[in-house]
Amino acid sequence: MCGVVGYTGINQASPWLLDGLQTLEYRGYDSAGIQVVSPSGNLHGVKCAGRVAALRERAAAANPTGTCGIGHTRWATHGAPIDRNAHPHLDGSGRIAVVHNGIIENFQELRRELIANGHELVSDTDTEVIPHLIQEAWEGPAKGDLAAAVRHAANRLEGSWAIAVICADCPGTMVVTRNGSPLVVASTDDGAYAASDVMPLASVASRVYQLQDYDIATLTPDGQIKIVDREGRAVENPVALDIDWDASAAKLGGYSDFMAKEIAEQPEAIERLLKDRLGEHGIELDELSLSNEELAAIDKIVIIACGTSYHVGLIAKAAIERWARIPVSVEFASEFNYNEEYLVTDHTMCVVITQSGETADTLSAARRMRGMGCNVFAITNVLGSTAARESDGTLYIQAGPEVAVASTKAYTAQIVASYLLALRLGLANGSMTRAEAEKHFHDLEEIPTQMREILSRRWQDKQAARLFRDKHSSLFLGRNVNATTAYEGALKLKEISYLHAEAYPAGEMKHGPIALIEGGFPVVAVVPADHVHDKTVSNIQECLARGAAMIGVATDGDEKVAKLCSEVLWVPPVADELIFPVVAILHLQLLSRYVARDRGFDVDKPRNLAKSVTVE
Ligand code: AGP
Repeated sequence: MCGVVGYTGINQASPWLLDGLQTLEYRGYDSAGIQVVSPSGNLHGVKCAGRVAALRERAAAANPTGTCGIGHTRWATHGAPIDRNAHPHLDGSGRIAVVHNGIIENFQELRRELIANGHELVSDTDTEVIPHLIQEAWEGPAKGDLAAAVRHAANRLEGSWAIAVICADCPGTMVVTRNGSPLVVASTDDGAYAASDVMPLASVASRVYQLQDYDIATLTPDGQIKIVDREGRAVENPVALDIDWDASAAKLGGYSDFMAKEIAEQPEAIERLLKDRLGEHGIELDELSLSNEELAAIDKIVIIACGTSYHVGLIAKAAIERWARIPVSVEFASEFNYNEEYLVTDHTMCVVITQSGETADTLSAARRMRGMGCNVFAITNVLGSTAARESDGTLYIQAGPEVAVASTKAYTAQIVASYLLALRLGLANGSMTRAEAEKHFHDLEEIPTQMREILSRRWQDKQAARLFRDKHSSLFLGRNVNATTAYEGALKLKEISYLHAEAYPAGEMKHGPIALIEGGFPVVAVVPADHVHDKTVSNIQECLARGAAMIGVATDGDEKVAKLCSEVLWVPPVADELIFPVVAILHLQLLSRYVARDRGFDVDKPRNLAKSVTVE
């Protein structure tokens, strides 16, 4: 979703602001802009609908000059993605510029009030009220103190925000604040930086500081950052985060797109995650904040997640119920938040699964679970994310930055993380022996090798992608845990190729979706050599009888499937049925990427989507 960057220092601001915005492109956006202020107090901005590349062209022509500036990528919520609605937005005097992530829920009332006070607002956005409120405070009670003016304005806002502000009357000073939307700052020899996530800062700093809700930070060109809380008290020890990955991790490094890179990184991600997890006492999961006795007492688990992470939750449920014998419900965070009747026990644990750790619906649901007295355990990828900060315990999947909007490596790493949790719970409550847990762990250790084998077979996916040419719709089928493989495969295809993909449990297909099938209609059937294999083969026959173009995802050597399907995406044999979904999904990730590229789409930045969905 939207992204914020800011810099004040000894260098020209525009080059880094543009680079920073480019790094934030992965979040999804539809317009972008920058505004800089020169030491003599000239504000100069450029903004436009479209990509950062277009903004660069405009900036090259306009050459905005100044050593202090702010920038933004906007994902439209209020008002169409047009130049006029792009950030930064200015106050009535044209001297205060603001960029904003989040949503101002009371903007209509504030807008009416400002108009009644004589302000002229020129955009359709909720954001534009902010510079006007700052202007009123600046000219009134704040008496020319930018930080105080920002505090006054923020006190009028309802909703969520991460804001960066510059002003022509105090060139060189940037003020930032947040509530509910992340914001980090960094101090360097070249000056001070701010951004809505660590990604743009990784190239300039190895340590960043997280602002807490309502903190106000004043950044100056000497690199100083002064942070005060909402009462105006100095924040002496802000939360520091050390960036433990190299800035090159967020670069393409020879790949044509981030999705290709991230698909290929999965074996190493799983190896990192499993490292040192099998110890003297079984599965080592110190990230849990509960004692062995407390773990043993858990009698219900509620998994909260959205999108791909929700699919992880469905597979986690199968593992936890099988290995730890604890009943699990998996909830879409957006639905859970409005289910007033939700029941928990005294020993219910909440597991929050979120790659970004910033998904608004997931965070609200987790807060609600905490309010209901549950221990909240987060599985996330992003260090210091809100989910991590607000949970009782956090397991970082350590997959490295995931830049492509379509989640790939986080999906498989989150599944494996949930398997570690299932094993740990099973050991704690006696549902499995140490020897059984070790056996399952060793099965997990095989995953990287199996994944590498799939990656070496990518030609199969490329070939199968041809069956989707000129098609408008498709069907994905699977049973048991691989119904989820089908859901995730279909989601990937929809996200990046804009081709409709219906996913169904294979046995349910005959109750409706079978009506879709006609000659040449692509159907992907996930059909491993498992206990429901023959049932799924029958469903393949049903599809073939109606003319489907069948693509099987099957275990090496499956002659039945080979005979029936036009294309087969072969998966090496796995020791446990729960391993298949982690490995087989690589084929479906690759398949969707090939289909999307065949259609000429940008696989990393699909239309309408954002990497982290920070609005409800
Ligand atoms: C995944 O490909 C999607 N882009 C999306 O469904 C995503 O998984 C969802 O928005 C949840 O994100 P999170 O894991 O960061 O909470």
